[in-house]
Amino acid sequence: MTTKIIAFANQKGGVGKTTTASEVAENLSQQLDKKVLLVDLDPQASLTSIKYDMHEMIADRKLNMTNVMLGDCGIEDVIVNVKNNLDLAPTTLQLSDAELNLVNTTLRELVLSKSLKKVADNYDYVLIDCPPSRGILTVNALAASDYVIIPVQAEYQALLGMQLLKKTIKDIQGQIKPDLKVLGYVITMTSHTNHSNETSEQIKNDEFASLIEVPRMIDVADASIANMSTFEYRKNNKAGIAYMELTNKINEL
Ligand SMILES: Nc1ncnc2c1ncn2[C@@H]1O[C@H](COP(=O)(O)OP(=O)(O)O)[C@@H](O)[C@H]1O
Ligand SMILES: [Mg+2]
Repeated sequence: MTTKIIAFANQKGGVGKTTTASEVAENLSQQLDKKVLLVDLDPQASLTSIKYDMHEMIADRKLNMTNVMLGDCGIEDVIVNVKNNLDLAPTTLQLSDAELNLVNTTLRELVLSKSLKKVADNYDYVLIDCPPSRGILTVNALAASDYVIIPVQAEYQALLGMQLLKKTIKDIQGQIKPDLKVLGYVITMTSHTNHSNETSEQIKNDEFASLIEVPRMIDVADASIANMSTFEYRKNNKAGIAYMELTNKINEL
């Protein structure tokens, strides 16, 4: 099986990118026995703080994605093991400085893509958690990926920036990565309000497919603190079941 690389992108923050990447990584690695690498490409480092000991990383000055994006080392030098079948390329807040420096690098859109070539064969899936922007880090993630999944919150404001994100994706398909495929939306944090239902309907009518709807459930946040998927944490939770359904769809790619 060839390695599949998937980016989780949306320039809006707080829409469930990190949660979705983490849920899928946990389910693929722990439920389906796949080898998974999670790449934290968000300077806010929320994935790293969930999956790894940030304090230890900073205290030991461990190499991380900042160094990789600056060209100081390869991604193989920063990867850490989280648990059986699941590895992480962690990051720190300094990645935002790297973002500024990247502006002057030649082929700056391809730094991640090139770096991943060395390690991708070791994994069934590489999942990239993007920052809440359409800047050079997200461009690097999309340029390195075979697929992109767009987590989007079921609220009106979520749709406002969508045209811009689509333009970024289409630019990448046109200029850098013609075979980048949009898998579709993950509609997150739905509730039983008219507003939520109407927004979900609107998203479902979009040109991109809607993959799953994930209800807002406190177990999702609790599972992430426990470093598990919601499916593993609470078997019958609807959000956990939805994320397992998404994982199965990804497993069939
Ligand atoms: N289905 C859900 N139910 C409840 N809380 C959720 C759910 N999905 C995400 N969250 C919470 O919402 C917050 C934002 O999610 P996160 O994945 O960090 O978004 P992003 O990475 O897009 O900024 C987090 O605190 C997360 O635990
Ligand atoms: Mg995030």
